[in-house]
Amino acid sequence: MKFFVDTADIAEIRDLAATGLVDGVTTNPSLVAKSGRKFLDVVKEICEVIPGPVSAEVAAVDHATMLGEGRKLAKIAHNVVVKVPLTPDGLKTCKALRAEGTKVNVTLCFSPAQAILAAKAGASYVSPFVGRLDDVGVDGMGLIGDIVQIYDSYPEFETEVLVASVRHPMHVVVAGKLGADVVTLPPPVLRQMFNHPLTDMGLAAFLADWAKTGQSIV
Ligand code: E4P
Repeated sequence: MKFFVDTADIAEIRDLAATGLVDGVTTNPSLVAKSGRKFLDVVKEICEVIPGPVSAEVAAVDHATMLGEGRKLAKIAHNVVVKVPLTPDGLKTCKALRAEGTKVNVTLCFSPAQAILAAKAGASYVSPFVGRLDDVGVDGMGLIGDIVQIYDSYPEFETEVLVASVRHPMHVVVAGKLGADVVTLPPPVLRQMFNHPLTDMGLAAFLADWAKTGQSIV
């Protein structure tokens, strides 16, 4: 199970990369806006910090402009994954970029039917948004189960299921149970995953008992 971090905040990315747990990064226009920085500079810098896949999203909605943007983004670094929306033009762009050897993440997936289309278009990743589905009363993780089941039936589908719009550690746990390939985690969710009160209590007790021994290891 791969862990991507879902942020365009370079300080956060550096901090989390130091844990050794980060396999890649996803960004989107909202996260770039939040960073307050120039998009192309941010993508370049992230690619220098993280050797794994770094998703950078196009901003156009028509095929020709999306393709031009995607080509420009792909030139930034070898590990850029171009992110396109799950629209007819987006999937046409996906197919064209894949034919050129560029990796593509098809984003804004909200149904199994859309996920089938993304796989047919040769997407490297499909990003179903589980949190946004939960927000409107639809079971986001149910969608992940459906996509994993469908993709498993077709070995020719090479698309990895990238669980996006993750809100809490249980999304990650269920994604793992369902066999999703990747989860992209907002930094606070990755940090929350470390937490357990019994770990804190157990460590405090071990340290107190160790102090009683008067020993040191080094
Ligand atoms: C990542 O690829 C997605 O753009 C992101 O996970 C969306 O998350 P949100 O629903 O919290 O904005």
